[in-house]
Order: sequence, then structure tokens, then C-alpha cells
Amino acid sequence: MYLLGIETSCDETAAAVVESGEKIHSNIVASQIATHGRYGGVVPELASREHLRAIVPVVRLAVEQAGISRGDLAAVAVTCGPGLVGSLLVGLTYAKALSLCWGIPLIGVNHLEGHIHALLLEEKQKARPPNGGEVELPALALVVSGGHTNLFYLWRQESGDYLYRLLGRTRDDAAGEAFDKVAKLLGLGYPGGPIIDRLAPYGNPEAVRFTTSKMKGNDLDFSFSGLKTAVLRYVQASAALEQEIEQRRQMRRTTPQPTLEKWLATASRSTLDLIASFQQAVVTELLRRAVDAAGRHGARSLIVSGGVACNSQLRERFSANELGFPVYFPSPALCTDNAAMIAAAGYPKLLAGRFSGLSLAAEASLRL
Ligand code: KG4
Ligand code: ZN
Repeated sequence: MYLLGIETSCDETAAAVVESGEKIHSNIVASQIATHGRYGGVVPELASREHLRAIVPVVRLAVEQAGISRGDLAAVAVTCGPGLVGSLLVGLTYAKALSLCWGIPLIGVNHLEGHIHALLLEEKQKARPPNGGEVELPALALVVSGGHTNLFYLWRQESGDYLYRLLGRTRDDAAGEAFDKVAKLLGLGYPGGPIIDRLAPYGNPEAVRFTTSKMKGNDLDFSFSGLKTAVLRYVQASAALEQEIEQRRQMRRTTPQPTLEKWLATASRSTLDLIASFQQAVVTELLRRAVDAAGRHGARSLIVSGGVACNSQLRERFSANELGFPVYFPSPALCTDNAAMIAAAGYPKLLAGRFSGLSLAAEASLRL
């Protein structure tokens, strides 16, 4: 059974065709980084307009590349939240139109559930023994992206549908947002995660000591805004760092996509140490909560997904940590926003007959 997936919750217009929740036939992602880069973050109004421009050709390309005709599609799965409401509305409205015109059911998918299914989809594709590509359940799932930092406990019902319990979430900034804001502050451009990831190995992660506060109430919740403020204070205390940041901003005006060598040429030892220490603090915070949750809940595996799960140090430290069960990450292309994960998350709902009506609404703060 072929499902068309559509994803427009933030700044990527994406469409994909996935067979039976496990075989990707096409996976098209039109990125808006060039549009938002100069503002150092996603501008919601511009994102909606870019989605409007891209949605028709992106969906057409996904169906063409899959080598199927629209009559082969069993359903259309679409992200209905959480995300930017103007962006969500573009994908959702187009999916409703396709559902109506092509006579196929509409399935609303929570974006966070999509990030978890990116991993479930890929493991099924690998179909490795001894579990035949099935991740051991119940599992913990840490979704870490530009908009979210959520820790879930997940299991599967007899119907094949998945259930989720939220164990912890960020009280302020998401982990990816912290990477992006710190990168902007240091004159490193957008998105910040990939560049911080590449520069961090050149600094000393023990050089700057960041303290993280204990969370009152739910101690599995996260907080990253204090860390961002601590980086700001550190920069404000040094005229040399501020001057260096200004030089990087000027460099980016003439060279919008600097090479690693160029970045390194503009970064002093103190900057590299600051970057390495910041990244280490974020990864430590994420790992600590995952280990705490693993100790309290009887999970059999851990899934880490979302854009920040591309981070090299995060992958290394989570993999090396003795959690006592396997840790899974999707490949980088499936960690960041895509529509294959939405089609995959829609498949169990298709089997369970859980369809959405045409009154399905876009919800900016949809909970899973
Ligand atoms: O999942 P995603 O594509 O979009 C959201 O749903 O938000 O995640 C984008 C986020 C951005 O904040 C970006 O800076 C971060 O993921 N990111 C990374 C890395 N690659 C992307 N953060 C840390 N290290 C990376 N290598
Ligand atoms: Zn996402």
C-alpha cells in the first residue's frame, strides 16, 4: 500500500511516497535555508509564502519519482501540528484537496510522531536479525529539533497503532533553537547546529564550565535558555570576542557559505573553547535526562531523532553510554524534517482505519 506523505510544519516543503510504512519510493525536500539564512532564523510569513510556491511541484515530483500513478495511492498523510500555523495550513489544505479530488482518505499526523517513525521506518528497511528490523518496545524516544525537545515512552497496541506518553519536555528553548541562537550570537549563521558540530572538535569542551539548573516539578523536563544566556554573558565580558564576532559577520556578507578553513581562520582559541563547551553542556543535559528516564521506566531501547540527532558528539556519547539497551538514530537525512517519516507514521493509522475528516485543523501546539 502506497502512502503519500506531506510535511510543511516549518521551513521545509516535503513530499514522499512510502510503501507499507517501510519502503521509501521517493523523498523530496525543498529547503528554505537560503530564504531564512540572512535573518538568522525562520521568518514565519516568508515560510508560508515559500511553501505556497513549492507545494505543487514538490508533490508532483514525489509521485513522479516513485514511478506510480495517483490511482496507486491508498491515502495521503499530512502533518497537522505542531508547527507554524501558516506553514501547516499550506500542506494541510493541499492534502485535503488531493484527498477530495483523488478520492483517497486523509490521515493527520503529529510531526513529533513522524520524527519517531523516521527511525522505525529505517530499521524496517534494514530488516536485521534477530528482530527482523523491529525496534525493541517499549522504548524511550527523545525528539530533539529546532522546535522541540521531548522525551516520550512508546509502546504498540494490538491493533498495530502506537501509543505515547510524554515524560519530559523543554520549559523554554528547544535544543536546536539553543544551537541556532548561540550560533547567531557568535556570528556563525543559520542553521547553527551543523556549524557548531563541525567547529566543536577544535575546542576544549572542559574550558568553560556551564551549570544547569535542577528542574522543579518534573525533573525529566529540560531547559536551555539559561545556557544561551550564559554564553551571551561570556561574550559580553570580552571585547576581543565581540570584535571577532563582528569580523565573522562581515565575512558572511561577502562569503555566505564559508568553508571550514575560513571559519577556523576567524575563530580564536577562546571561541572554539566556548563552542565546544556549549555543545558538551547541551549533550550532557540531554543524556542525563535520558539516563534518568531509562532508570525509572522499563524501556528496552532508546530512539533519538530530530535535527539535533545529526550531532556527532551526541551520537558518540549516547552510543558509548552504558544504558543497558540499544540506542537508535535515523540516518541524518531522515533526522531532519522530511515527509517519508509522515507517510510512515500514517501507515499504522491506515491499517487501523483511523482517518481524519476534511475538518481536520492545523494546531500550532498539538500534543502527542
Ligand atoms: O528536525 P529539524 O529539521 O526541524 C525541526 O523540526 O525543528 O531540526 C532542525 C534543527 C536546527 O535547530 C538545526 O540547527 C539542528 O536541527 N541541527 C543540528 C545539527 N544539524 C541540524 N544541531 C546540532 N548538530 C547538528 N549536526
Ligand atoms: Zn522536525
